[in-house]
Amino acid sequence: MCGIVGYIGNKNAVNITVEALKRLEYRGYDSSGVASISNDGNLLIEKKKGKIRELEQALSKQETAACHLAIAHTRWATHGEPNENNAHPHSDNAGVIALVHNGIIENYKALSERLKKNGSVFKSETDTEVLAHLIGYFYKEGVQLIEAVRSALKLVEGTYGIAVVSTREPNTIIAARKGSPLIMGIGKDEYFIASDVSAIIIHTKKVIYLQDEELVSVNFNGFDFSTLENETIQPTISEIDWDAGESEKGTFKHYMLKEIFEQSNTIENAYRGRLIEAGATARLGGLNMSMAELHKIKKIILIACGTSYHTCILGKYLVEKMARVPVQIDYASEFRYRNPIIEEDTLVFVISQSGETADTIAALREAQAKGARVMGITNGIGSTISRETDGGIYIHAGMEVGVASTKAFTSQVTILYLLGILFGRMRNLSHVDGLHYMGELKKIPEKVDRITQQSDKIREIAKKIVDSRNALFLGRDVHFPVALEGALKLKEISYIHAEGYPAAEMKHGPIALIDEEMPVVAIAMKDVLYDKVFSNLQEVKARKGRLITIASEGDDQLHKISEEVIYIPHTIHELQPLLSVIPLQLLAYHVADLRGLDVDQPRNLAKSVTVE
Ligand code: AGP
Repeated sequence: MCGIVGYIGNKNAVNITVEALKRLEYRGYDSSGVASISNDGNLLIEKKKGKIRELEQALSKQETAACHLAIAHTRWATHGEPNENNAHPHSDNAGVIALVHNGIIENYKALSERLKKNGSVFKSETDTEVLAHLIGYFYKEGVQLIEAVRSALKLVEGTYGIAVVSTREPNTIIAARKGSPLIMGIGKDEYFIASDVSAIIIHTKKVIYLQDEELVSVNFNGFDFSTLENETIQPTISEIDWDAGESEKGTFKHYMLKEIFEQSNTIENAYRGRLIEAGATARLGGLNMSMAELHKIKKIILIACGTSYHTCILGKYLVEKMARVPVQIDYASEFRYRNPIIEEDTLVFVISQSGETADTIAALREAQAKGARVMGITNGIGSTISRETDGGIYIHAGMEVGVASTKAFTSQVTILYLLGILFGRMRNLSHVDGLHYMGELKKIPEKVDRITQQSDKIREIAKKIVDSRNALFLGRDVHFPVALEGALKLKEISYIHAEGYPAAEMKHGPIALIDEEMPVVAIAMKDVLYDKVFSNLQEVKARKGRLITIASEGDDQLHKISEEVIYIPHTIHELQPLLSVIPLQLLAYHVADLRGLDVDQPRNLAKSVTVE
C-alpha cells in the first residue's frame, strides 16, 4: 500500500511533500518520487528506488524553492518490480501531467491496449502509468484537468487514491478516491492532500475525508468537491483529535519498541470510560444498539486479517467463556468469497487497526450484502471501515507506526474482553463476577509495565536465538492465539520462519521438527492446563528442543526443563493473554534488531494492505 502527499501554498512544496512522505514511509517504502511545477511552468519529476533518503539526496542538488505546488509518493509495489522506472509520479505521453496513485487499476491491460492504438508508449510496467496516459488522452485542448480525470476514472475498474497536476493548470491539484483512503488538509492559505493524517498533522488538524468516487480540485484560493457524476458536494470538515507528537519515536530506537512500551497506557485508553461500576457492565455506545437489540443477538462473527485475526481467535475464547454467545471467526480474505451463511440475530464485527485493509472492507461489504448488521473495531478514526460499518468501537491506541502490530493487538483484545462483559451481563454473568472482571482489568496496566521492564533481560535471551532459522511457538486455550501472534511477530520482522501451534497439537506433526537447533517458545501459566502444557514441554525437552518458557511469577518447575524462563505477573485466565503476548513482542523485536534489520519497515510488508 502506498503513500501519497500533495501541497499547494506559499511554502517550498517539494520540501513540504518529501518531509511529509517520511511520515508515510511505513505504508510502503521500495521507491519514492515527487513532481512539482516551477513558477515558469515546467514539470519537474524526480524519483528514486529505495528509501526516501535516496530521493532527498537527488533533490538536494536541485533548486526547488520556487515550486509552490507538488505531489509525492512512496511505493509498495503491486504491478512492476521496485525500481526507478516503476516509481511514481507517472506522466502521460505528452509529458503534460503527473500522477501519483495508491490502489490497483484492475482493467489496466485492456485500457493500455486501447491507448497503444492511440499512440501511447509506456515506459513502466505499472497500472498507474496507464491511468496517467488515459487522463492525458481526455485532456485535449480546452478540456479542464478535472474533467479529463473524471472521464478517465469512469473507465477504471479497481481502486484508487490519486493526485494529479499539469503544466497547463500550474496552480491546481486534482485528487480523487475510490477504495484507497485520501484526505485533504486545510491550512492557512495552503492545502494538503495525503493518504492519512499522520503525513500532515504537524501542519493542520482540519481535514476532509474524501469518500468513494469523490474528486476535489484545489488551488491557491480554495477547493471544490464533486462526484464522478459531476454533482457538486459540500464536504464535512473534521478536526483531528490527537497530536503529531504521538507519532514521534521519542527516546526509543524504533516505533515498534515505543509502541510495545505504550501498552500500559493504550490498554487503559481502550477501556477508559467504558466500565460502568453501577451495572457491573461495559458501555460501548458506538454500537448504536439498544440493550434489547443486543440481548437478541444469538451469534457473533469476528472477521479480520493478520494480527487482527489473532484477536478474533482470542475473542472467540473470551466471549464464549464470559457470555456463552457462539462466536464464529473468519479470515476476511476467505469470508468474502466462500458465500457465508449469516443467520438472523447475528452480529458481525470486522476488526482492523488501520480500518483500510482491502480484504476486511470486502468482507464487511459481503456481510452487509447478506443483510447482516456489521460493527467495526478499529484504530482508524475516519477510516473506511469506521464510515461504512453500522456502528463500532474505536480502540484509541493512537498512531501505530511500526508495521508489526503490537499495541493494536492488546487494545483490540481489551475491546473484545469488554464485549464479553457486556454480553455476559445480559446473560448469566453475575453482578459480582462483572465487577471482578472489571477490577482485574484495571490492574493490567501496572502489570504490563512490570513486563516491559524486563526488556533488557529479554534482549539477552534474544541473543541466544538470533541465528536460528526456524522457531516454534506453543500455547493452549487463550494462549494458542498468543502463540500464533508471537510467531507472526518473529517471522515478519526477523525473517526467521516461525509457526504457532496449540501445545497439544505438537505431537501430531511439528514434533518431528524438534532438535537442538529449534527454539521452542512456550506459554505455560499456572492455570488449569499447566500440567498438560508441562508434559507437552517435557516431550520437547526429551528431543533436545531449546525451550524458552513464559511462566507465572513464582513458578519453581519450569526452569528445570527450560533454557530460559521469562516470569510474568499472574492475572485471571481471560486477561492473561494481555500479559503473555508482551514478552513475545519484545523477543521478536530484539531478535530483529540484533539481526540489524529495519524493524519498523520490514521487507515486502506494508502497514495497511489496501490491495487484495
Ligand atoms: C501484523 O503485525 C501485520 N502488520 C499484519 O498482519 C496486519 O495485522 C494485517 O495486515 C491487518 O491489518 P489491519 O489490522 O490494519 O486490518
